[in-house]
Amino acid sequence: MKHDEQKRAVAREALRYVVDDTWLGVGTGSTANFFIDELAKVKQRIKGAVASSVATAERLKAHGIVVEELNNVSDLPVYVDGADEVTSHGAMIKGGGGALTREKIVAAVARKFVCIADASKKVDVLGKFPLPVEVIPMARSYVARELVRLGGFPAWRMGFTTDNGNVILDVSGLSIVAPFVLEDRINGIAGVVTVGLFARRGADVILLGGEAGVETIRVDPGGRRQVGNDGRHRA
Ligand code: A5P
Repeated sequence: MKHDEQKRAVAREALRYVVDDTWLGVGTGSTANFFIDELAKVKQRIKGAVASSVATAERLKAHGIVVEELNNVSDLPVYVDGADEVTSHGAMIKGGGGALTREKIVAAVARKFVCIADASKKVDVLGKFPLPVEVIPMARSYVARELVRLGGFPAWRMGFTTDNGNVILDVSGLSIVAPFVLEDRINGIAGVVTVGLFARRGADVILLGGEAGVETIRVDPGGRRQVGNDGRHRA
């Protein structure tokens, strides 16, 4: 299967996780777009959706799916979204599309994160894909210097502004063997809004589209808390 066919296959599979008569969190990106198109066929099953970006909200509305603000939703059983990289422990790099902050907020509210991706996104160690960091514009240079101190090579995503009015630094050169630690470290830099490392709130279920069909990985929550993506246990 080509990547697009794999994305469509995982999008269809993700419909199994949609809980009837509830609100559904919907992510951003090309895989999430396939999911929205599949969701449109069964939209009567749900109350509506909470979107992780303006682009996703527009696509949902174009399909006639009700979009509700997160502030008006107290229970979100499921969030479905893609990833730029994902480990078998459910840690992810996200934000290639620049929607990382809203994605992280919606994911935090959701009880279950269903990650949908083609098989090329699965990695043993995160970091080959440049790690996006959303930054308050006036802090851009300072945060970039701090990221260099952490061993990374930040590049300003020129000409791009997030839905929240901020800028993105894409950090290459990191081999992320302790994702929890790096997530906390980068989030602690003044001026950082969000780092696109989703380790503390990783995926609960990973649907991977491959040549042979869809592989389902159910992440052990205990394992996610205790094991780095190199398999080493952390304190
Ligand atoms: C959006 O900001 C991202 O987090 C996406 O979820 C991620 O980049 C995956 O996108 P694709 O499905 O387009 O690869």
